[in-house]
Amino acid sequence: MRIKAIIFDAYGTLFDVHTVVDKCEQFFPGQGKQISEIWRQKQLEYSWLRSLMGRYVDFWSLTQDALLFALKDLKLDLTEETQQTLLNEYLRLQPYPEVPKALERLRNLILAILSNGSPHMLNTLVENAGLSQVFNHVISVDELKIYKPSMGVYQLGVVELGVLKEETLFMTSNPWDAAGAKTFGFQVCWINRFNKQFDELGVQPDIVISNLDELTEKFL
Ligand code: 2OP
Repeated sequence: MRIKAIIFDAYGTLFDVHTVVDKCEQFFPGQGKQISEIWRQKQLEYSWLRSLMGRYVDFWSLTQDALLFALKDLKLDLTEETQQTLLNEYLRLQPYPEVPKALERLRNLILAILSNGSPHMLNTLVENAGLSQVFNHVISVDELKIYKPSMGVYQLGVVELGVLKEETLFMTSNPWDAAGAKTFGFQVCWINRFNKQFDELGVQPDIVISNLDELTEKFL
C-alpha cells in the first residue's frame, strides 16, 4: 500500500540527544560524554518503568530525574542552577545535519512527530530548530500519560492523522521503538545511524537506512 504519511520519533531520530555533551563538558570537563550516555539511558529506563508501574510524570520531570541520577552516579557536585542549565539544553537539541533538507523533500506527504516529549519540550525543540512549518502534527504521549512502546501511543498517531496504519511509515532510530511500531502494524523504517545491532524482540523493520537521505522514492 502506498505511503501517505510519515510519523517520526523525535529524540535520537530527528534530534541528537548528545548535543548536551558540550554543555556538560563546560561544567565537568572530560565527563560530558559519560554524563550524556547515562542521562539518556536512565531517561529511557524511567519511561518504561514508570509506564509499567502506572506512575506517569511528564518527560521533562523524567529527564530531570535521569540527569540527577547521572550526576549522583558519577559523584558530581551540582547546584540547582547548573542542573537547570543542563536540562534546558534539551530544548535546544540540534537536528542531525541531513534532517532539515530531507524533510523538505518529503513535504508532499503528511509529516508528523509522535514522541515521548512533553508538548512544551517538543514545540520548543521544533521551533528552535526552525522546523515549525514542516510538520502537520506534533503529537505528545502526554495526552495518554503512558510512554512508548505502549500500543495506545501508536494508535494515538493513527487517530490524530486520520490515516490507516498500513499506509503510514513510522521512522525511528530507536530499535525498541521500531519494534513497538512494527508490533502495532505500522510500516517501519529503522534509521540505524551508528551501525548498531537490532533488538531481538521477534519483529524486524521493513526498511533499514543509515540516515534520512537514503529514504528515496523507491521506498515510498
Ligand atoms: C521519543 O522521542 C524518547 O526517542 C523517544 O519518543
